[in-house]
Amino acid sequence: MKNVAVVGSQWGDEGKGKIIDTIAQKKDFKAVVRYQGGNNAGHTVVKEGIKYALHLIPSGILFPEKTCVIGNGVIIDPKVFLEEIEKIESRIGKNHAKILISEKAHLIMPWHIIRDGITGGKVVGTTKRGIGPTYMDYIERTGIRMIDTEDKNVFRKKVADSASWNRKLIETMLDFHKVPKKERTKLDLDEALNEKTITESYWNYLLKIKNNSSITIGDVSLYLDSLQENNKGILFEGAQAILLDVAHGTYPYVTSSHPTVGGLFVGTGFRPRKLEVIGVAKAYTTRVGEGPFPTELFDEVGKKIREVGVEFGTTTGRPRRCGWLDLTILKYAKLINGLDGIALTKLDVLTGINPLKVAVGYKIDGQKRDTFTINIEKLKQVKVIYEEFPGWKEDITKVRKFKDLPRNAQKYVNRIEKFTKLPVKMIGVGPDRKAVIIK
Ligand code: GDP
Ligand code: IMO
Ligand code: MG
Repeated sequence: MKNVAVVGSQWGDEGKGKIIDTIAQKKDFKAVVRYQGGNNAGHTVVKEGIKYALHLIPSGILFPEKTCVIGNGVIIDPKVFLEEIEKIESRIGKNHAKILISEKAHLIMPWHIIRDGITGGKVVGTTKRGIGPTYMDYIERTGIRMIDTEDKNVFRKKVADSASWNRKLIETMLDFHKVPKKERTKLDLDEALNEKTITESYWNYLLKIKNNSSITIGDVSLYLDSLQENNKGILFEGAQAILLDVAHGTYPYVTSSHPTVGGLFVGTGFRPRKLEVIGVAKAYTTRVGEGPFPTELFDEVGKKIREVGVEFGTTTGRPRRCGWLDLTILKYAKLINGLDGIALTKLDVLTGINPLKVAVGYKIDGQKRDTFTINIEKLKQVKVIYEEFPGWKEDITKVRKFKDLPRNAQKYVNRIEKFTKLPVKMIGVGPDRKAVIIK
């Protein structure tokens, strides 16, 4: 049985949630698996006009016959997770997928969010959800894992150790970054880092999660292996994207995990025998947070794309920076992920824009190239080489066959295939799960 991994091929928010939800409709897939990131992700699924914004829970949640798996590479804020599942259950009751959470997954704790609040906004413009500091502690070996929450005494000791050390650390950070007194008072560290309060409140969140009959905490590797043995399909849901990968992205303007397909193996403890990798890309480019963005638009076209594409962050509500499609990025995503195909989303958003431009290379220090560069200083200065395409005016949101797309829209898609030497397998023409062309 073939397994599929869906990964972001730009700077995130490509529409991975929608593509996962679309592919998951095939009965062959029994599980939808997240393998990295945390609630910095915001994946949108629209079913029959109703919108679901998911942060930690995989985008297969609307299928009661499936299992949503949260791998060990995912970091979990128990409070956020609980709120998310309660919100879903308030909308659709228990008629959702089962959830399996890895016992090896690390927890986002209050001190991580405070630390991210002090430094995260400074250079990178993080989501301030505690992502970087939680992965720091994970790598430093001081994190708290799901498995540490089996026994309250073990959990209490871990919280006490972390809280006292984090108190010192955070005070030093506040001094070093010269955080004004008013801000410090607002933080109220005595209350925010009170080990007793944290132990009790987090123990309660965890109890509620564990007492939910749809949720299990256990061995993800064993479960995925059993699916493979029984010839059931597995769908892997990447969060974030290639250029936000801490190893392969536009460092330091990245997240702290591995959204690329390599993250899947470590983040689940499982090696799928057969794996098709689909890169999701918007028909243009967006980015939230700081960092260079060569094809960014500051004019009316950029504004139009933001408005028509509703380009505002699913997690933080920040307006997304918008620009032309950059094919050098897709080529890079293919290289690092070994992509087998592309799912192109939001083609409908480009309707009415004329001409359209697509980046096919850069000029750096007088030299032309048709590949991306992760050299940040160079990336800030590149001169982009564009190709121009005539646009189309027809509404394409009801189109379900490639041959029914306007000729100019077909040409746009064909150029992507030719440049990347990859098939565009799916084309999104609207937010709803039905608004897709399977090519
Ligand atoms: P993700 O983080 O990659 O899952 O993407 P987000 O959910 O953060 O952002 C994608 C946005 O585009 C969401 O609001 C989706 O509902 C919407 N969307 C996805 N595919 C399409 C499409 O083909 N056309 C349009 N117009 N909207 C889409
Ligand atoms: P999905 O899965 C877009 C960005 C943040 C910031 C940087 C680091 O919805 O595509 P972090 O909080 O992770 O330490 O922030 O990464 N970022 C995203 N941008 N989509 C996402 O997720 C993102 N997750 C993080 O804006 O620039
Ligand atoms: Mg998103």
